[in-house]
Amino acid sequence: MLMLPLAESHPDLIVGLERADDAGVFRLTDDIALIQTVDYFTPVVDDPYDFGRIAAANALSDVYAMGGRPITAMNLVGFPVKDLPLEMLAEILRGGREKIQEAGAVLVGGHSVEDKEPKYGLAVTGIVHPERVLTKAGARPGDVLVLTKPLGIGVITTAIKGGLAEEGVIREAVEVMATLNKGAAEAMEGLTVHACTDITGFGLLGHAGEMARASGVRLRLYSERVPILPAAEEYVKFGLAPGGTRANLEYVSSFTQFAPVITEEKRLLLADAITSGGLLVALPPAEGEKYLENLREKGVKGWHIGEVVTGEPGTIEVV
Ligand code: CO
Ligand code: CO
Ligand code: CO
Repeated sequence: MLMLPLAESHPDLIVGLERADDAGVFRLTDDIALIQTVDYFTPVVDDPYDFGRIAAANALSDVYAMGGRPITAMNLVGFPVKDLPLEMLAEILRGGREKIQEAGAVLVGGHSVEDKEPKYGLAVTGIVHPERVLTKAGARPGDVLVLTKPLGIGVITTAIKGGLAEEGVIREAVEVMATLNKGAAEAMEGLTVHACTDITGFGLLGHAGEMARASGVRLRLYSERVPILPAAEEYVKFGLAPGGTRANLEYVSSFTQFAPVITEEKRLLLADAITSGGLLVALPPAEGEKYLENLREKGVKGWHIGEVVTGEPGTIEVV
């Protein structure tokens, strides 16, 4: 996601570094474009198998966010071979493999290095029709905004690291993070979708801000409609929020106007730095209805959390 002054131009480059998007997209033929993305991080939960599932689901998500389908994946591994049992690494890889298979992709290789702490993720290659690439640009006034996973994961993982989270809360958070955005992406098939991204480290407001900027529009979010994991609403009252979430809130405040009734806790949750979050999709209202229906049919959750409005481009209002 880091913007470097290295923007390339090529006639077949559809999405490159010049626009911060979820993945790079390169046209191979008139019908097929390649999607490439890479993501890896340190453990967010204690269980190595769960960590593997979450890291893989997170890496695969950027292909779904571009409207694509993952085809192949490669493991990226950092592991302290002298300090931790190799069985732990095997469990991480087992979890990752399970998600790659669930995505219908094929594990084709990988690379590992000795590292002070475990790191895991994937380099993923996907495909998409060049004319059906979904980016953060393209949202139009009148569009509805749909979110497909609840927020609060950053607050909950902070509680987990502090040994403060209950077992049931940990299980729920793990399942949210390990859920592929496959169903949420497939539910878009056949619909007119104007913009799409996935919610991760910059939080809902950070990623929504990217969409607002790329699309040159203002977004209105209804705070009461945004789904938040109940435990996160409790923990945040005790000041449990990761540094990344606080940094996000400070950053988004430059382009986000909060209605005075929105509490500091709610603002933090809307900015929460999450791992493997859902898709944020902008589409015309009638298509939005169909999208929510398709999601329901697939057993995937979806919430209509706001809309695209006219106003100062690149800004958000939270009401
Ligand atoms: Co992304
Ligand atoms: Co990304
Ligand atoms: Co990413």
